[in-house]
Amino acid sequence: MKLLVINGPNLNLLGTRQPEVYGTTTLKDVEDACVAHGAAAGIDVACFQSNSEGALIDAIHAAKADCDGIVLNAGAYTHTSIALMDAVSSVELPTVEVHLSNIHAREPFRHKSYLAAVAVGQIAGFGLQGYLFAIDALSQRLNGSS
Ligand code: DQA
Repeated sequence: MKLLVINGPNLNLLGTRQPEVYGTTTLKDVEDACVAHGAAAGIDVACFQSNSEGALIDAIHAAKADCDGIVLNAGAYTHTSIALMDAVSSVELPTVEVHLSNIHAREPFRHKSYLAAVAVGQIAGFGLQGYLFAIDALSQRLNGSS
């Protein structure tokens, strides 16, 4: 099984970006933890980050060729991008939406997610651990055990 972990805009700055909201965990910490968590369960985890909407869409399209599922933290594009939503529905790969922060406890404009309608589910508010929950959720779903 192969999963793709995608991080969107500004998440390359994790660790120094608003640590009071996002903590001091870096993107490398997130990606390393995902790869290690996957490896422990025999899952191949690849990681991708971009600040560009088009590059994120291209990565979702490319995943169709060799991935079984997607973990997606689209950052602020979550709240704005119909194009990303369409990309997720187009490839028909099970996708779990992840947010480090609890978007529902923040500003009202963060409560709306275009991705939620096409994702298997949404995990928000658990920091780095949310990505690992997402990997477990996809793994169980793909193995037919949930
Ligand atoms: C985020 C939440 C978004 O509202 C925000 O724009 C981000 C990060 C999160 O992981 O909590 O960039 O997706």
